[in-house]
Amino acid sequence: MIRIGPYTLPNNLALAPMAGVTDLPFRLLCRRMGAGIAAGEMLTSDVRLYHTEKSRRRMDHTGEAEPRVVQIAGGDPQMMADAARRNVDAGAQIVDINMGCPAKKVCNKAAGSALMKDETLVRHILEAVVNAVCVPVTLKMRTGWDPEHRNGVTIARMAEDIGVRALAVHGRTRACMYRGEAEYETIRAIKQSVAIPIFANGDIDSPHKAKHVLEQTGADGLMVGRSAQGRPWIFREIDAFLRDERVAAEPSLAEVRDIMRAHLRDLHAFYGEEAGVRVARKHIDWYAQGRAAGHALRHAVMQAEDAQTQLACADAYFDSLVETYGAEKKNESSSRADRTSCAARAAAADDDRRGARVVLRDFERA
Ligand SMILES: Cc1cc2nc3c(=O)[nH]c(=O)nc-3n(C[C@H](O)[C@H](O)[C@H](O)COP(=O)(O)O)c2cc1C
Repeated sequence: MIRIGPYTLPNNLALAPMAGVTDLPFRLLCRRMGAGIAAGEMLTSDVRLYHTEKSRRRMDHTGEAEPRVVQIAGGDPQMMADAARRNVDAGAQIVDINMGCPAKKVCNKAAGSALMKDETLVRHILEAVVNAVCVPVTLKMRTGWDPEHRNGVTIARMAEDIGVRALAVHGRTRACMYRGEAEYETIRAIKQSVAIPIFANGDIDSPHKAKHVLEQTGADGLMVGRSAQGRPWIFREIDAFLRDERVAAEPSLAEVRDIMRAHLRDLHAFYGEEAGVRVARKHIDWYAQGRAAGHALRHAVMQAEDAQTQLACADAYFDSLVETYGAEKKNESSSRADRTSCAARAAAADDDRRGARVVLRDFERA
């Protein structure tokens, strides 16, 4: 059971903060699908920008279950403290500090994981934020600055001393960006050097990998980012597997279609039609990845400029898949071998363009 300040999480799975992805509709969806906690997209520490539409949306927590986590990014201790206070006033229940993002600068100052090079500045930022608010402060970081300077343990100890209540550690250094494979040894060393809860993060893409990372690091929880894109049900799959080694059945194509449809509607409502259609495109693309006729869907979706057409295109695509594969899908277990063969059938279908024709026909009619 993970506790962060007064909050006991329903499980040990966290959705990773991802700018441009973990907006309110996606957080709500992932929480429904089994994420125990979900951080929002990072917010600049420059509160002068909080009147902008972008910041306003990022501060929206309507309907979000406790604890509401806001991540702030910046390199100036006082600005970070002000930002933390502003977000708590606006409803944040946990303030997360971004030292995990490889972006070099936010507002012309070193920020994100670039901060890890300057341990004195890290100390000042952590102290300023922890002292500024009465809600728990958490820290998201990488294993270090570069492979020769993995100072994650030093920063973790410092954070714990200052009063940070939990850490999420991405198993790469800043210099690694997203290259190579995440390593979990440093996360294990961090876990062994502090008592606060640790979330291990990086390349967790299946229930089996989740279990492996948990065992290898000894971490209290896991944080999943990119693998939840187009696959938010990964949280319930991991949760079921960690509880009793049960391999949960993958959602049927009809269920995927329904989840996606509801998600798109939420995006259209949250952003308004024009921006919502734009934001929804990448999500549809992710839902379609590895499925038949993905190229045709992409083509049709990219051209859709209004919500109704976009929904119709996405629906038509999934309806065609349900029609073609629905019955077979019901009989499938979700083993890796079965999934691979399903992908192979999808690729074959891609060749005959059957799905493509259905999508394009309906797209033209719509
Ligand atoms: C599109 C994208 C946006 C991201 N934005 C943030 C962010 O705002 N704050 C942050 O701390 N990390 C951010 N990250 C890093 C993720 O939180 C996570 O640490 C990283 O993707 C590794 O986890 P994964 O392998 O499960 O994706 C972002 C990653 C991606 C792919």
